[in-house]
Amino acid sequence: PKVVYVGSDGDERVIDAAVGESVMSAAIRNGVPGIIGECGGNNSCATCHVFVREEFTEAVGGPNDLEDDLLDLGVSDRQDCSRLGCQIKITDELDGLTVDVPAHQN
Ligand code: FES
Repeated sequence: PKVVYVGSDGDERVIDAAVGESVMSAAIRNGVPGIIGECGGNNSCATCHVFVREEFTEAVGGPNDLEDDLLDLGVSDRQDCSRLGCQIKITDELDGLTVDVPAHQN
């Protein structure tokens, strides 16, 4: 499935992701700028913050409890569509998923 990462400068990167990997790991594997993933996907660093585009928010769903706390504590520009990239698992249904990468992590 494809995942599209849109940088804060509007630069779009289309990545071929694998089913089962996360939006964070697909980004790191492909050198997408702006996603850091310091904790390696353990839901504890909040440096993989992304904004899910409105047309995908329903399919992606909301944050889990731990993620929700981390978004509150660790993300300065949290929005309703905020998710941690490491907590979004890529599926075939999410093909074309588009996320905005924030200008800064934390
Ligand atoms: Fe650390 Fe997502 S990579 S919370």
